[in-house]
Amino acid sequence: MTAPSSSSPVGWYRMAWPALRHLDPETAHGLALRLLRLGLVPPAGGPDLPSLHVTAMGLSFANPIGVAAGFDKNALVAHRLHWLGFGFGEVGGVTPKPQSGNPRPRLFRLDGDFAAINRMGFNNEGEAAVAARVRAARRPDFPLGVNLASNTDSDQPAEDFVRLVQCFAPIADYLTIDVSCPNTKNGRMFQDPLRLDDLLRRLLAARDRLRTPMLVKLASDLSEAEALAIAEVTLRHGFAGLVVANTSAARPSSLTSATQAERGGLSGRPIFVASTALLAAIRRAVGPAPTLVGVGGVFNGADAYGKIRAGANLVQLYTALVFRGPPVVGAIKQELAALLAQDGFASVQDAVGDGRLTSD
Ligand code: FNR
Repeated sequence: MTAPSSSSPVGWYRMAWPALRHLDPETAHGLALRLLRLGLVPPAGGPDLPSLHVTAMGLSFANPIGVAAGFDKNALVAHRLHWLGFGFGEVGGVTPKPQSGNPRPRLFRLDGDFAAINRMGFNNEGEAAVAARVRAARRPDFPLGVNLASNTDSDQPAEDFVRLVQCFAPIADYLTIDVSCPNTKNGRMFQDPLRLDDLLRRLLAARDRLRTPMLVKLASDLSEAEALAIAEVTLRHGFAGLVVANTSAARPSSLTSATQAERGGLSGRPIFVASTALLAAIRRAVGPAPTLVGVGGVFNGADAYGKIRAGANLVQLYTALVFRGPPVVGAIKQELAALLAQDGFASVQDAVGDGRLTSD
């Protein structure tokens, strides 16, 4: 697979990043988080260009590039994500009780494929620890979302989501209900529209009088009909929109790495096309108003632009950080701004869904 282009890493990354790549991926990730937490990652450049500004879900984003769920499961670096140049962050997935997840190894790089496979199984410190950090990290200029999931051993997964919404709706800028995890017993049960309908009704009641926007996150390997059924239920309940999409259980024939045989969810370059096609189909079906967050295989500005033209108001990434390091964020923003200008779009919002749609 051809290397997705972007600017080369700078500063300490030039030394540290290649070294991290020689470690077991989960150890490398832990180390990267520690460096970030200690402030050893230099802040990204100055303010974002006005053309990158987005308004969605009633929130203001300096730029549309956010870090996807799973990168900072415990909100350890939530207060530092803006340093990297992101326009927003999504921490979690968080479950009510702490849980250790699946046995290691459970995260694998597919080096030649610019991809990863994970079966982490929602390892996280639980809602109390994460909530304390989210409260401390929140800033007016950086929307912070929390990704919610049920405990693996839970007999009442809907109750778990209710409890999480009660905990996080008062302190987060938005919430994502993850119904698309391939790695746990309950991870995908609410992709069934009838079950989802009941769950979302309960979550609206749990949110009570608060207006915290809520999104539903889909798997990237749903059929168009399945995805549209979930979108219909989600929007009928007045949810703000959808995150499209989570990792994929599929193994495209293009994969070349031996680690493709590992169980778990595939992320990165090989899921770009399918997740973007799903996003475009959903945008065509739901019209301009709902917020769609495009995620899956974004490595450079052209990829981010592709998501936006397909219908995304906002874009997230994770696997690109594994391969390119934090400088990928600044490179994507620069390339995206150039592509918008080249096509005559004054703003991201003008380009959403081929420019025929506008966000709220
Ligand atoms: C994830 N992802 C994820 N998603 C989610 O909703 N809750 C979660 O807890 C996690 N955890 C997680 C861990 C790891 C190690 C990876 C690689 C991914 C999925 C992630 O948010 C995103 O949807 C996919 O990774 C696709 O985007 P990229 O990685 O191709 O940019």
